[in-house]
Amino acid sequence: MRPTSPLGIASSLFQGSFASQPLVGASAPGRVNLIGEHTDYNGGPVLPFAIPRRTVVVAGPGDRWQAVSALDGVVTEFEPSAAPEGRWTDYLAGVIRVLHGMRAAPPGGRIAVASRVPVGAGLSSSAALAVAAAKAVSQLARRRLSREALVEVAWHAEHDVVGVQCGRMDQTVVAHALARHALLYETGEDTRRHVPLDLPVLLVETGVSHRLADGGYNRRRAECTAALEACRQGGVDAVSLSAVPESALDALDGRLDPVLFRRLRHVVLETARTRAAALALAARDYPRVGRLLLEGHASIRDDFESSCSEADRLVASAQRHGAWGARLTGAGWGGTVLVLAPVERHAAISRAMAADYRREVGRAPAMWTVRAASGLRSERGWSHV
Ligand code: GLA
Repeated sequence: MRPTSPLGIASSLFQGSFASQPLVGASAPGRVNLIGEHTDYNGGPVLPFAIPRRTVVVAGPGDRWQAVSALDGVVTEFEPSAAPEGRWTDYLAGVIRVLHGMRAAPPGGRIAVASRVPVGAGLSSSAALAVAAAKAVSQLARRRLSREALVEVAWHAEHDVVGVQCGRMDQTVVAHALARHALLYETGEDTRRHVPLDLPVLLVETGVSHRLADGGYNRRRAECTAALEACRQGGVDAVSLSAVPESALDALDGRLDPVLFRRLRHVVLETARTRAAALALAARDYPRVGRLLLEGHASIRDDFESSCSEADRLVASAQRHGAWGARLTGAGWGGTVLVLAPVERHAAISRAMAADYRREVGRAPAMWTVRAASGLRSERGWSHV
């Protein structure tokens, strides 16, 4: 029988490609960010949760680095010290290069990957791959790294080697997530708190693929740095953009370049919204969480300008059909809209949203329901698959 779980697929792919059994394995989930967008590299809070779709990485010894993905089944050789080539193996190369610097990876190895996290859907397929690979490859070198250390490895790989100047939200939630909980991660203080989230969430893919490395993301990061500098010149001395007090916004309006002011306003108000959403979630006040999501989406659309018209339509449609709230999740410019709605309304809302989208955009969106899932774990048991 053909395996259907990502672990089964990765293990049989490994055996088929390398004529041996893998020695180690790990898996990590994709994520949805409930709220707190573009705050993680501005010292603010984020409130993501892991989804029950995982990326599995299995590995075994080898004299050079080779990898195969279930996506195409092609065995690729790669050199961890080489410059990124725009291929999926760049993430593996980045991870291994960082691990080499910590003497936590062998000189060579064989890797097989299978994933159920959609790529380019804003659900952090890259962090799932990098964190799972960091765990599997360090195990291959017989090193036991903490979750915190694995987050750092995966983050450095993506940030320094692949070149996306991301914050640490994705790697952190992918490594630390707890089932049926969202994670309130205060990036400025580096603290994490699990907040109960036992409600299923509806995900609607725009079908517009975003590519982080394309530059929009790094441009926003540069604008945020410039906005902080402008605040300081304007007499507001804050450690980070998210620490600029809300009460200073009025005075800064007019003193800052209008684009930089809009980026600032998004980060400051999103910071407040995220903390408010964590409180409302803990109190199971879903209508309030929903209102905060809608405000967050409007802010991404108008102030941070990282939405897209397809996502705006989906959010408006969700609202029209009685959802508590909805917003585009992840870096933006495409990807997935999350919808928070009473469970008994999910079927009716998704039917109505699909009909709207077909009429307005001309295609049916992929939709699915998720519950908050658990993070990184070791995988074994391929001899039984
Ligand atoms: C991407 C990045 C994260 C975060 C989000 C936007 O997912 O990897 O660090 O900045 O975008 O909130």
